[in-house]
Amino acid sequence: MFESKHQDEHVLNAEMSADSPNNLEPFWMPFTPNRKFKKNPKLIVAAKDMHYTSIDGRKILDGSAGLWCVNAGHCRPRIVEAVKKQVEEMDYAAAFQFGHPKAFTLASKLTEMLPKDIDNVFYTNSGSEAVDTALKIALAYHNAKGDSKRYRLIGRSRGYHGVGFGGMSVGGMVVNRKQFTNHLPGVDHIQDTHIPDLNAFSRGQPKQGGLERANSLLDLISLHDASTIAAVIVEPVACSTGVLVPPIGYLERLREVCNQNGILLIFDEVICGFGRLGTPFSSDKFNVIPDIITMAKGITNATVPMGAVGTHKKIYEALMNGPEHIIELFHGYTYSGHPLACAAALATLEEYKAENVFERAGNIEKKFEEGCHSLKGTKNVVDIRNIGLVAGIELATREDGLTKRAYDVFDWCFNEGLMVRFTGETICVSPPLIVNEGQIDEIFKTIREAIISIK
Ligand SMILES: Cc1ncc(COP(=O)(O)O)c(C=O)c1O
Repeated sequence: MFESKHQDEHVLNAEMSADSPNNLEPFWMPFTPNRKFKKNPKLIVAAKDMHYTSIDGRKILDGSAGLWCVNAGHCRPRIVEAVKKQVEEMDYAAAFQFGHPKAFTLASKLTEMLPKDIDNVFYTNSGSEAVDTALKIALAYHNAKGDSKRYRLIGRSRGYHGVGFGGMSVGGMVVNRKQFTNHLPGVDHIQDTHIPDLNAFSRGQPKQGGLERANSLLDLISLHDASTIAAVIVEPVACSTGVLVPPIGYLERLREVCNQNGILLIFDEVICGFGRLGTPFSSDKFNVIPDIITMAKGITNATVPMGAVGTHKKIYEALMNGPEHIIELFHGYTYSGHPLACAAALATLEEYKAENVFERAGNIEKKFEEGCHSLKGTKNVVDIRNIGLVAGIELATREDGLTKRAYDVFDWCFNEGLMVRFTGETICVSPPLIVNEGQIDEIFKTIREAIISIK
């Protein structure tokens, strides 16, 4: 008979987990302080539309769309049905040297939505894999053109591009890097776009500093020479680091400098894509088209893990050379274009269209902006940043340590029935795009009460 190895550690009550050893220890939780969590776990057991249900039966308003990913709201019947049907019909199709129709249909539908000339799609299973794939495609592209000297990859300080070695290396969030001593060689970083002295409490895109910050790429070009640089990767809006909105002119200038120097521009749209900014992709919002777009999260409404990389047609064309029986890109995942993910993604795209999800986000953006900026003047609020349906409310650091105040606000909100995220000292809000006006009021009222109530 099975005997638990974990008699004396943190245990769940029997009702929570009747058929397993009721123990929290074995699961090493990602991006979570495990010991703190396991002393006072936040467990959620069900979800519908704008709400989660906690294990103690409370309704929790989802102010973070899970992890910025449930854009159409939870457990939408159209998506649930599509996944159920697919799992009965075909669970898995070999991804190499075989295909299944939904993977092709989805790629066609995605390229219809993606900006002009982003005409090909490579599937992955996550945002991290999409980023590493995009970086590898950029290198392969230059190689295919006979330009193998272009090997450098440029990221940005405070950037988040997932947790693979590529994404970590081009990423610029110090805590995500410093534990893992060895990074990719040939990587450098431009400056982030956070200029609080000039831009604190901006509504939408900040007005100042965009050109100067984009021009920091010129410094790296002077240092390394453009002929060694393969690609620059940025999040159009850097969300995970605390919602840094690009100042006016920034992305345009970055595009210009890349064009002038033969450097590929990659937009990491893992969060920004699929309506978060009120448009299909942030390229539509900012009117700047990159060469490569990474996607994940909202692509399946988070129902099944999936990521993807959209590439400019010149990249695919450059690689479709050589003898036809030879693989053109030696890269891929067992689960690239997994049937369940494709079924979920196709149904998700239908859901977005049928429910006008992106337009709804665009229409309610002003109300959301009013809501978050109504917190200006609340004690300890030092900056508020927003665009589309994403906002960051930055708090002053408390004497007892970095992130302690933000954690307490997050914790207070959860106990009062609201899920938000925090990163550093910033409370991040990014509800499902179906959020209504009353729920926006509820979100910011709860956050205000939390900030006022805690030390
Ligand atoms: C911009 C960006 N890129 C990549 C990732 C990594 O995605 P995943 O966690 O699916 O690997 C994230 C996750 O938040 C992200 O925000």
